[in-house]
Amino acid sequence: MSNSQTPAQNSASSAAIYQHVSVLFQESVAILSPKDGSILVDCTLGGGGHTSLMLSLAGPTGRVIAFDRDLVAIENARIRFQSEISAGRLTLVHSAFGRIESEIDGLGLRGKIDGILADIGVSSHHLDAADRGFSFMNDGPLDMRMDQSQGQSAAEFLASADEKEIADVIFKFGEEPKSRFIAKLICERREATPFTTTKSLADLIASKVFWKEASRKHPATRAFQALRIFVNNELGELESLLNNGPKILRLNGILAVISFHSLEDRISKQAMQALTGKTKRQELPREIPFTQAEVALLSESHAEIIKPFPTIPSDEEIRTNPRSRSAKLRAIRVTKEYSVNK
Ligand SMILES: C[S@@+](CC[C@H](N)C(=O)[O-])C[C@H]1O[C@@H](n2cnc3c(N)ncnc32)[C@H](O)[C@@H]1O
Repeated sequence: MSNSQTPAQNSASSAAIYQHVSVLFQESVAILSPKDGSILVDCTLGGGGHTSLMLSLAGPTGRVIAFDRDLVAIENARIRFQSEISAGRLTLVHSAFGRIESEIDGLGLRGKIDGILADIGVSSHHLDAADRGFSFMNDGPLDMRMDQSQGQSAAEFLASADEKEIADVIFKFGEEPKSRFIAKLICERREATPFTTTKSLADLIASKVFWKEASRKHPATRAFQALRIFVNNELGELESLLNNGPKILRLNGILAVISFHSLEDRISKQAMQALTGKTKRQELPREIPFTQAEVALLSESHAEIIKPFPTIPSDEEIRTNPRSRSAKLRAIRVTKEYSVNK
C-alpha cells in the first residue's frame, strides 16, 4: 500500500464536520491482515478514516462494526457511509468500546471477529471545536465529554469535587508535579467564580504557575489532559477493551491499539504481555492478593505479541501531521480461543 492519504480519507471532506487525519493510517489496518470477507471492528470511528480503509480491504462480502461514544462522529458517518450501511457492510454502534463484549454478543458475532483496532483518545474535531471544551487554545464551555449525552462535565467535576480529589486526578492522569498547588488555586478561585469555560481555567493556571513563555508547553497542558482522561474514564475503557476484546476474536484474530501517551501505552503493553501468559507473579501488582488460580489463569497463554516493538509514525507522517508524534501501535494475535460461552 502506498503511504499517501487516500481517496477514502479525502472523501471525508464532503460530509465531514468531523475532521480528523488518521494516524498510522495504513500500518494500523494492515496489521489486522484484512482480506475479502473479513469481519473487523473499529472501536474508534472518529472521522471514519480507518473504517473506510477497513471497508475497502474487507471487500463486498466483508463487514465492519464501528464504535464511537461521540454522537457527532456517528451522525457524520451515517451520511458519509450511507451506501455501506444500507448494504449491511457497516454497522455503527453509539457506545463506549469498553462495552465491546456485550455489543458484539448482541450482534451475534462472538468468536467471528478477525480484527479489532482502537485508535484511542480524542480526535482533531474534539480539539478544534471550541464548544466541546477540550482545548485551552480555544475558549468554550469546560465540558470535555466525548459522549455529551451522559456523565459529568469537567466543569461539574471542578465545581463539586474536594481539593484532594482534584489534586489526585491532576497528578494521576496528568503526571503534573504541581497538582496540589493547582488544585488549591482552583478551589480558592471557584468560591468567587465557578469555572465554566476553558479559558478561565487555562488563564488561572498560566497566571499562577511559573512557566517560560518560550517553552513549547502551556502550563495547563497536563491539567487539561488529566481532566479529559478522568471525565471520560479513558484508562478504564482501555483496560476493559484489553480484557474483553480478545474474548470476541476468532482464533488468529488480531487486536491492535494505537496509544498517545505513556499512561495508555503502559496499560496496553502490560495487558498484552499478560495475555501471552508470560506474566510472573512478581510482575503483578503486589498490593492485589491474587489467588493461585488467578495467577495460573494469568500465566495461561492466549495470545502472541505481533511485533516486539511498537510501530511509530515515520518522520514524514510527523511532519505532515504533528498530532501523530506520540502514537504507538501495539498488537497481539489470539493463539488460543476463549470459550464461546461467557
Ligand atoms: C483518535 S479518534 C479516531 C480517529 C479515527 N481512527 C479516524 O481514522 O478518523 C478517537 C475517536 O474515538 C472516540 N472514542 C474515544 N474513546 C472512546 C471509547 N472509550 N469508546 C468509544 N469511542 C471512543 C472519540 O470520540 C473519537 O471520535
